[in-house]
Amino acid sequence: MKAAWPARLFLSGRPDADNPKHGADGRDGPARGAESRPAMSEYRLKERYALVTGASSGIGRAMAERLAEAGAHCACLAGSPEKMETLREWASDLASRHRVAVHPLQADLSLEDGPETVFARVEAVFPRVDILVNSAGLMYYGDFADTALERHERLLQVNVRAYLALMRLVLPGMIERGQGRVLNVSSASAFQPTPHFAMYGASKAFVLSLSEAVNQELRGTGVMVCALCPSHVRTPMIVNPDFPGRLWWYSLSGLADPDEVARQGVRALKKGRPVSVPGLRHKFFHLLLPRLTPRRLSGYISYHALKARKP
Ligand SMILES: NC(=O)c1ccc[n+]([C@@H]2O[C@H](COP(=O)([O-])OP(=O)(O)OC[C@H]3O[C@@H](n4cnc5c(N)ncnc54)[C@H](OP(=O)(O)O)[C@@H]3O)[C@@H](O)[C@H]2O)c1
Repeated sequence: MKAAWPARLFLSGRPDADNPKHGADGRDGPARGAESRPAMSEYRLKERYALVTGASSGIGRAMAERLAEAGAHCACLAGSPEKMETLREWASDLASRHRVAVHPLQADLSLEDGPETVFARVEAVFPRVDILVNSAGLMYYGDFADTALERHERLLQVNVRAYLALMRLVLPGMIERGQGRVLNVSSASAFQPTPHFAMYGASKAFVLSLSEAVNQELRGTGVMVCALCPSHVRTPMIVNPDFPGRLWWYSLSGLADPDEVARQGVRALKKGRPVSVPGLRHKFFHLLLPRLTPRRLSGYISYHALKARKP
């Protein structure tokens, strides 16, 4: 039996504009301007050109692994020059394992012209960008008023400005070609306030809202924007001496594996899911609970759940 249309939207996102059966607006017939493809229900990854930021570690690196495995060529960005040697070795191994082109790149996205520099470097090695994975990100633990303004501004530059600038750079080409995907790595922190890392949660809420809105604007173009919203993941971002190893929240949420999160990210890309929250209990904690709980109470609970516990 066919589900009612609101249920279909919730379960599978909007109909795939890359799918000639659905049509760009979910109506029958091919997407306007979409390249001609055999009938299929998912976005093809093979022989696509992907730009992955934050690829020197964690979720970005795992995303590049999964995309290369699916046959996509990848430009992989590190932020730190000192990571380049390791990135080069990994990229060459990835390329030979999956017989795709993998280009290691380095640029600092906290600089004003960082995104433009990255885009120019990708254009020099790839004919186009079909897939953009915005995964570079910063986080620090500590109360807002105790943290230097420069640090807040750097976070905004990397977590917000670089995301939107790269999207703005790649989207016109994708729209012209009638196909493309952007995966913005937001966070479960986007769904409620996050005391003790307030700027981080605020930056992720921005990315989620921007992704959902632009995704709607792109109806009929064959291009989609997905927001991937994992809860805490075992990566250097939070597994480091400056981030508390013990939060009350961890006893409920645990720490997810970056490879599993990346698998969910790739699934969201292929299926054209506007928002993906990996893990059933995280869907409950972050999609359902905040809608049932008064915002003030959500903030109060988060304050205690995210407070560092004494060792
Ligand atoms: N870990 C979690 O619990 C969690 C949960 C939800 C969402 N996320 C999000 O997932 C994304 C990836 O984070 P992760 O957990 O994989 O952390 P990670 O392992 O620390 O990776 C962060 C990546 O961002 C890059 N980066 C940082 N500053 C940069 C800059 N100025 N210019 C260019 N690149 C820069 C880093 O490059 P270098 O190391 O080379 O500088 C690194 O590749 C982030 O957006 C994060 O907010 C993480």
